[in-house]
Amino acid sequence: METNINERKPLDVLILAAGLGTRMRSNLAKVLHQLDGRPLINHVCLTAKLLKPRKIYTVIGHQGEDVKEAVLDQISGEEAEFPWQKEQLGTGDAVNSAREFLENENSTLLVLSGDVPMIRSETLAKLVEQHIYQNASCTILTVELDDPTGYGRVVRDSSDIFSRIVEQKDASDEELRVSEINSGIYCFDTKKLFEMLSRVSNDNAQGEYYLTDVPKLLLESGDRVSLYKHHDRTEIEGINNRKQLAEMEKNLRERVIERTLLESGATLVDPASVYISASAKIGRDTVIYPNVSIEGETEIGAGCTIRSGTRIADSKIGKNVSVLDSCLITEAKVGDNCNVGPFAHLRPNAVMKEGAKVGNFVEMKKTILGKNSKANHLTYLGDATVGENSNIGAGTITCNYDGKNKHETNIGNRVKIGSDTMLVAPIKIGDDATTGAGTVATKDVLPNTLVVGSPAREIKTIEKKEK
Ligand code: UD1
Ligand code: MG
Repeated sequence: METNINERKPLDVLILAAGLGTRMRSNLAKVLHQLDGRPLINHVCLTAKLLKPRKIYTVIGHQGEDVKEAVLDQISGEEAEFPWQKEQLGTGDAVNSAREFLENENSTLLVLSGDVPMIRSETLAKLVEQHIYQNASCTILTVELDDPTGYGRVVRDSSDIFSRIVEQKDASDEELRVSEINSGIYCFDTKKLFEMLSRVSNDNAQGEYYLTDVPKLLLESGDRVSLYKHHDRTEIEGINNRKQLAEMEKNLRERVIERTLLESGATLVDPASVYISASAKIGRDTVIYPNVSIEGETEIGAGCTIRSGTRIADSKIGKNVSVLDSCLITEAKVGDNCNVGPFAHLRPNAVMKEGAKVGNFVEMKKTILGKNSKANHLTYLGDATVGENSNIGAGTITCNYDGKNKHETNIGNRVKIGSDTMLVAPIKIGDDATTGAGTVATKDVLPNTLVVGSPAREIKTIEKKEK
């Protein structure tokens, strides 16, 4: 049996992400443009990570620091390396800027494009598998397109064997009719790739160093170049302009909506006007009204109602929750059987425990609202903890900021905060205490105590009512 030398080689990934993306007509580097609410480069990184490579090298240049940050959102510093391409002289030059890191590595190198975001890890795994199995020096991922305009064409010889890749701008009329395109995704024998890169010239229509010249050079020096033809073109589509980005977003949306309708058991009253991110999860029998946006890693439980005009991002909503019209909920947690809105704003680290209610024009930030507690009208709760069965009256404000620092408010169980109370933090309101309307509380309030006025005066101890 033939020994498979590639088999034992470790896998490294190289992502090309240094270009500006002139065709986007934007000041923002192309790979930082968003798809499904995340930069393009994030999609590619996440997919690469699933293959468990030894290292992920991302070639950066345009807005390199920002691209680096976006990559490090997905992968740790130890797994990542960032070769810098000083001038964007083409994809061949981009790979060449990783020379010092990789040229002596005895590894398999998977080259990905930062602007091909929909590629699936299963497809990449198959590409790598074929590359190893066929003992190739280079394997190119290709696909047939009805309209191949803009892509490099994969030219085969009369025996259907790979002969070269030709870029759109360099292609003859006959070559332009070829419908098999280069996805910009390849597997290489790392050492051989860098050997051949030194021979690539920029003598072409764009005056660029093309990575796409390497396979032909490998072939000419007697190496094996293999093609892996994939069937699903949607995975391979690249983003070069805003029209392609908008189309990809639309297609992704449609797929997510279809999947939600068929698999989650949720009702979308008007599927065309609802936005649901690919990573969101929605429970059975939840009803979503028109013009709702569910973004990021949001999870919504079963039996909820989400009314129009609401945006929920990266939040967890329990079971049987009602979210009325026009709420904004980000990085928050809402427990089972809660009521939210209309017009409520739950900011990061707002937590509503089971059965809690937050109503009209109430804002919560870094606050826990305890079980069955209510803040129904015109209230700001920031850096606060509210116990169980407490009622926060209309117009209450936790005055958490003294101009320099944020301070905490701690409200106990069964507390009644009267309308228009100002709680000047840091402050503690004991269990079963009450504040009168218009109170400005500057000092801690003892349990079972009624306070009123500005600054609050202690009036009496509240007698416990027998239940
Ligand atoms: C490239 C391929 C083409 C293929 C297509 C698939 C070449 C010469 N052409 O064309 O055959 O069909 O992808 O999508 O490779 N980049 C750098 N530095 C540079 C230039 C580009 O890092 O100097 C990065 C870009 O940021 C991008 C990727 O490489 O992420 C591809 O570059 P792009 O200019 O989009 O190449 P295409 O014209 O799409
Ligand atoms: Mg491209």
